[in-house]
Amino acid sequence: MSKQFSRRDMMRGIASGAVSLAFAPTIFAQHGPPPGKIALRFNENPYGPSASALKAAADATAMGAYYPTSISNDLLGAIAEKNGLALDNMVLSSGSNEALQAAFVAWGKQGKIVLPELTYSDHLDYARRMGVELVSVPLGKDMSIDLDRIAAAVDDSVSLVYICNPNNPTGMTLDGDKLRDFCRTVGRKAVVLIDEAYNELTDRPDYTSMVDLVREDENVVVMRTFSKIFGMAGMRVGYGMARPDLANTIAGYVMAWPNGAGMAAAYASYSDDEFIGFSRAKILKGREMVNETFRKNGIEPLPSQGNFVYADIGRNATEFQKLMNARNILIRGSFERYPNYSRVSMGKLEDLEVFDRVFTEVYNA
Ligand SMILES: Cc1ncc(COP(=O)(O)O)c(C=O)c1O
Repeated sequence: MSKQFSRRDMMRGIASGAVSLAFAPTIFAQHGPPPGKIALRFNENPYGPSASALKAAADATAMGAYYPTSISNDLLGAIAEKNGLALDNMVLSSGSNEALQAAFVAWGKQGKIVLPELTYSDHLDYARRMGVELVSVPLGKDMSIDLDRIAAAVDDSVSLVYICNPNNPTGMTLDGDKLRDFCRTVGRKAVVLIDEAYNELTDRPDYTSMVDLVREDENVVVMRTFSKIFGMAGMRVGYGMARPDLANTIAGYVMAWPNGAGMAAAYASYSDDEFIGFSRAKILKGREMVNETFRKNGIEPLPSQGNFVYADIGRNATEFQKLMNARNILIRGSFERYPNYSRVSMGKLEDLEVFDRVFTEVYNA
């Protein structure tokens, strides 16, 4: 991952005291984009949390003196039921990132982990620090995950394969049937972890979740989060679905107890179909708006199925990020060895109208 400011740096900066005390009151009082700025950088969903989630969180907070008890089983039970699974297929974590870290450490102790060279990476440094050996496989020419090359990289020394679908930052999806075949074949040699953080935002017919393979007891883990369609990134709730032995392995390495307010909010949102539909419609509309901004400036974005769009802007993305930041629009700079690719996350539609105007001005200045 590039050296520019990221969510991880933000957490590390605050925790290590790198943020000066003079700034501390502002930073701790503020939750969300800095005043006057439009934040399109961390794949958040500003349409959340839902009203039902806010009420549930407030009720849970009023009982905040007590450790959360049955709510975790209520939440996992509801998710299990919707996916045709049982409670022992489920593992809860503080955001899906924690379950990813847990899985990487659990299987990383047993062998190497194979993954695409450009993918979601916030959990990778942690795994490396824990001594896990990661093997990166280049993307295909069209920036898609190259399943054949990944399959070829899996030998007896490999314990886990990580596939993010839709992938972040490209937003691209894999064909469901091909991925299913891959999971069945590669799963004979190693556990296949499918990160479906953006599952609910896809609209391509050839995209499908791999949760049916969990129902079939394949060697597959599916991870999801409440941070995206549910708009609850700050409330830290994620989960994994897997065969009971695999779910148990991950649970053994999860460190935090997700907080009561977050779980209550997640439980309320999970069955809030009206909010889910509303949130999805806004994000899909936003995605089209950002695609359109790129296209009208002569840029063809990658076909994104997430709440972000990634595009080769033909110039250094980190330099461009600085110019946009100076105009109060926060976007991402370069990732890995793709200096000219810029990633823009969805904001509220009115924010994306401002983005459209500012991007066009800055790009053509
Ligand atoms: C692909 C992917 N997986 C997992 C996560 C982690 O999300 P969280 O820890 O908020 O659930 C993200 C966050 O951006 C992501 O993009």
